[in-house]
Amino acid sequence: MKEKRKTLVKFSGVHKRFGSLQVIKDLNFKVPEGEVVSFIGLSGCGKSTTLRIIAGLEEVNKGTVERKFDNLGFIFQEPRLLPWKTVLDNICFVLKDRIPNKVERQEIALHYLNLMELTQFKDYYPAQLSGGMKSRVSVARALAIDPDIILMDEPFSDIDFPLRLVLIDSLKDILEKESKTVIYVTHDIRDALLLSDRIYVLTARPMQLKEELFISEEVRDINNPKFSELERYVINLLKEELEIKRLDEMRVESIVIK
Ligand SMILES: Nc1ncnc2c1ncn2[C@@H]1O[C@H](COP(=O)(O)OP(=O)(O)OP(=O)(O)O)[C@@H](O)[C@H]1O
Ligand SMILES: [Mg+2]
Repeated sequence: MKEKRKTLVKFSGVHKRFGSLQVIKDLNFKVPEGEVVSFIGLSGCGKSTTLRIIAGLEEVNKGTVERKFDNLGFIFQEPRLLPWKTVLDNICFVLKDRIPNKVERQEIALHYLNLMELTQFKDYYPAQLSGGMKSRVSVARALAIDPDIILMDEPFSDIDFPLRLVLIDSLKDILEKESKTVIYVTHDIRDALLLSDRIYVLTARPMQLKEELFISEEVRDINNPKFSELERYVINLLKEELEIKRLDEMRVESIVIK
């Protein structure tokens, strides 16, 4: 019998407002240990806000948030690197408390930089990197600290699709080997399909769950016809939400004009 997995994050009836703007309305979901769970939704629907709530950086107005993990890695939408440190030192820096030995720290940092195809840029400073390269450093840094759960906010959005495929493959390898729990936020359906065990498709603001999809190993393959089928299916779900959002904006405009 399959062992029941522990739930690391659970939202029950969560509501979140910023002033008069209702961003999240009655959001319910769970993230089981060892799964890669993607959140996919339109720009501005509340994905980053949800990650910030999970990280404890934002309070909710109503509902409960259960967090059953000790440490978390957060890859923010904007990579937050220390500009005065090299790529290698940006990673070694976060390992200082856990790994006292400098050589060991560097080995770990280099291992993750290699996975993100960045070895040759280890001595560069952040200002000398492209946007996508900075994002890859922040992915390497989050993996290196070996947290229970990693929150990733569109880490590969600045990267061309062929390289993204390589990076996603590397990421999948280590996530499987190290059985990590990941919450991956994206508006790229292909990223979500390639990586996830489970995808939560979100509605436009105020955000709720629109649909929960379970992705099997065989579907996580760009050459599988089911991949394209699911891609189209999710695109249509998001198109529906875009339509709802437009109608809603027109309704608000007409109220203002009246
Ligand atoms: N600190 C804040 N104060 C006021 N409004 C905020 C704040 N943070 C987010 N919002 C608003 O909440 C909504 C959701 O923002 P959020 O950043 O969560 O969206 P998102 O789904 O991550 O979008 P994107 O895909 O463009 O990154 C937006 O309308 C945004 O303006
Ligand atoms: Mg965001």
